[in-house]
Amino acid sequence: MPDTATVSRPTKMGAEVNRTNGIPKDGPTPPLASIDFSNYDITDPELWKRDAFWDRFTWMRKNDPVHYCPDSPFGPYWSVTRYQDIMTIDTTHGIFSSEGGITVVDQDEDFQLPMFIAMDPPKHDVQRKTVQSIVGPENLKGFESLIRERTTKIFDSLDVSKPFDWVDKVSIELTTMMLATLFDFPFEDRRKLTRWSDVATGRNNPEVVTSEEQWRAELLECLGYFTRLWNERVNAEPKGDLISMLAHGEHTRNMSPQEYLGNLILLIVGGNDTTRNSMTGGVYAMNKWPDQFEKLKANPELIPSAVSEIIRWQTPLAYMRRTALADFEIAGKTIRKGDKVLMWYVSGNRDEAQFTRPNELWIERPRVRGHISFGYGIHRCVGNRLAELQLKVLWEEILRRFERIEVLEEPSRVPSSFVKGYSRMLVRVTPKA
Ligand code: HEM
Repeated sequence: MPDTATVSRPTKMGAEVNRTNGIPKDGPTPPLASIDFSNYDITDPELWKRDAFWDRFTWMRKNDPVHYCPDSPFGPYWSVTRYQDIMTIDTTHGIFSSEGGITVVDQDEDFQLPMFIAMDPPKHDVQRKTVQSIVGPENLKGFESLIRERTTKIFDSLDVSKPFDWVDKVSIELTTMMLATLFDFPFEDRRKLTRWSDVATGRNNPEVVTSEEQWRAELLECLGYFTRLWNERVNAEPKGDLISMLAHGEHTRNMSPQEYLGNLILLIVGGNDTTRNSMTGGVYAMNKWPDQFEKLKANPELIPSAVSEIIRWQTPLAYMRRTALADFEIAGKTIRKGDKVLMWYVSGNRDEAQFTRPNELWIERPRVRGHISFGYGIHRCVGNRLAELQLKVLWEEILRRFERIEVLEEPSRVPSSFVKGYSRMLVRVTPKA
């Protein structure tokens, strides 16, 4: 029987919206057979919180790979679910624009946050160029020892006699420290970055903010803090941190405050949630496939390959949105000018036509860097090498000191179809004898 439940849930805080086919918070997840795909909205946060979307994507890849949702709280949208079709959209940036925004939610007319991930060439290209050297090979060399020192310090400070939350104690702490370094941000205030990252992506998550006013106020507080740092840096000699780069960059020094805030959010979220969730997802996956952890312990030279496989398996950003600038035919469907298109990386990374045993963590996977977790084309992740470096060091240090990391219960997941991640994961570690 088609599930036609209509659930009220807040989106733009304060305003309840009707979500057709939404899962009631206290109800069971409807089985696949009960779903009416002619009007199915896969962005339902409840599905993501429950990690219950996988069979929906398998169905779409097989039966309707470019799927149309005519009715969602954010308007109609297309879901592109197969690897090759995603590559086609991602590399056809002349037709598939990032300008309209990168998530299914449109920006508010009165609170625009321009950022270069949501721009098209030529503006995108010059702003990206302004900051990309921060994660260039020279800087990465210098970062490695710093990351190792911090990882060691965090592991040394753990009370290993008791279970603890890996998300808070390890993943958040490490990624936030890195972010503070990239911005040359006051270290003692670094948890503000974690908070602003959560707020930026948690607008519709009542566990993060409870009103639209609170959401805007916290982002403006972020802008206020960073404006003080901008003013310090703009009056000093150019340095290698992101704020100084933006304040002195030819194509960024005259940004409006909203555009500064937009780009800050991009860099905060880009550098934070994604790597954080890969740090947690990797430990979780190694628990699901303990033979892979044993193999890694016996063959530490597999760490770089394991890191890429973890990033594929986790896919920390489930999708990116584009907006069609012209009609386009794909997989027998016609996407119309103006339509929203969601490229579901999380589904492309599980595409049976592209990957052998796609649902498994397989650290020796052939062509392991061929995943699309970092996107593809002109917006491909700027920070991908830095993310890989952070994860490489993390796993090297894990192998050096822990015999075992045991996940004690199912982790809590973030109720978001965009940031695919974890809010808590209880673990117990066994140090090496
Ligand atoms: C595992 C970790 C990471 C994942 C999975 C990830 C994923 C992505 C994805 C999917 C995109 C968009 C691609 C597209 O639209 O086609 C992107 C863009 C971006 N990422 Fe990452 N990211 C990660 C880590 C980082 C880090 C550490 C940083 C910062 C240092 C960063 C900064 C950025 C920036 C600035 C962009 C915009 C690029 C552009 O528009 O040209 N990311 N990332």
